[in-house]
Amino acid sequence: MRIDILTVVPELLESPFNHSIVQRGKDKGLVDIHIHNIRDFSEDKHKKVDDYAFSGGAGMVLTIQPIEKAINWLKSQREYDEIIYTTPDAPVYNQKTANTLSLCKNIIILCGHYKGVDQRVRDHFITKEICIGDYVLTGGEMAAAIIVDSIVRLIPGVISDETSALTDSFQDDLLSPPVYTRPADYNGWEVPDILLSGNEAKVEEWKMQKAYERTKAIRPDLLEK
Ligand code: ADE
Repeated sequence: MRIDILTVVPELLESPFNHSIVQRGKDKGLVDIHIHNIRDFSEDKHKKVDDYAFSGGAGMVLTIQPIEKAINWLKSQREYDEIIYTTPDAPVYNQKTANTLSLCKNIIILCGHYKGVDQRVRDHFITKEICIGDYVLTGGEMAAAIIVDSIVRLIPGVISDETSALTDSFQDDLLSPPVYTRPADYNGWEVPDILLSGNEAKVEEWKMQKAYERTKAIRPDLLEK
């Protein structure tokens, strides 16, 4: 999969993709991530990328010209399955969307910033808008990092134990059950006996029960689905 990210603050995305599972996906050649500075596409002599909103009010709006140039330049090189815009005024991201996006070959993610982008960019270029949760961030860069992280781990081969991504919280609308590691007894804090029993069927049953209890206590809305 190839992911192109368009941002006015590329520095914010320097680290998130250079570690852990995303780095492993890159090392294995399963994902290729390119970060582009929208400013590099500005035809303004001061490399301006934003302007005041016609409606007035505080906050700058990202202008069309550099974004159009960047997107058209990318589109001239390959076809994109989705051109995503990260913004709080959009449908909320979830595991189902992550699963769908992980099947794409090429995607562009445009990070909103300041007051957002000129609506005409959304009308004419964007194919999918994503909000990562009901809170407002300074910009869409963190949202883009979250989207990339959540989809890269789903690409077959990125996580060695392929079933691992499938047993994540939310994959079956249940939160994950608790997990334990050694020692089995830490100063009297004991691991549940069942997990040491070696009885696989019983362990599975216990995990299911705990996942259900946790979901009911913390996220009952997931059970209503
Ligand atoms: N930009 C600012 N807040 C955001 C959010 N919650 N989701 C996506 N992009 C954003």
